[in-house]
Amino acid sequence: MGNKKTLIICKSVHHQNTAKVAQAIANVLDAEICEPENVPYARLDEYGLIGLGSGIYFGRFHSALRRWVYEMPSVPSQGRRVFLFSTSGLSFLWRIWHWPIKSRLQKKGWDVTGEFHCRGFDSVGPLWLMGGINRHHPNDRDLEHAASFARDLLLRSQPR
Ligand SMILES: Cc1cc2nc3c(=O)[nH]c(=O)nc-3n(C[C@H](O)[C@H](O)[C@H](O)COP(=O)(O)O)c2cc1C
Repeated sequence: MGNKKTLIICKSVHHQNTAKVAQAIANVLDAEICEPENVPYARLDEYGLIGLGSGIYFGRFHSALRRWVYEMPSVPSQGRRVFLFSTSGLSFLWRIWHWPIKSRLQKKGWDVTGEFHCRGFDSVGPLWLMGGINRHHPNDRDLEHAASFARDLLLRSQPR
């Protein structure tokens, strides 16, 4: 990551599922974790890599994270790196759920360098009556996959 730090911006409001993924990634990248409300855009210059993640709520990233991305000014130079991560009750549509934020970031000049998704415990609405789904996710295996995703980001940032 050169000598610049990594910042992970995460919103995890249902069962802290995405917060566990954020921590697994942060441990590998030695990253700081913040909520979007606490990250002024002026701070971004301090970081060589940014991670953005949340649970998926009604098919979208958390509104605070979306707002943070949508109101962010474009970055002046190409090559500013960002990765995306999320957890959700149902997993098969995750690429579609990532797409609006991914394309917005690309339009603002960011290089979206990786995406990670895994299932998370979901007890919203009627699911609560049956004890929820994905009760033990993210589990150790999911978190190992998250750590491996982060190691891959590190490898890809090494000069060749
Ligand atoms: C209000 C609400 C809406 C949700 N909408 C979806 C959804 O559209 N699709 C889905 O797969 N999961 C949905 N979920 C489940 C969450 O994405 C899942 O539990 C996620 O792991 C929560 O992450 P968190 O604990 O970090 O907040 C929803 C959960 C909540 C609370």
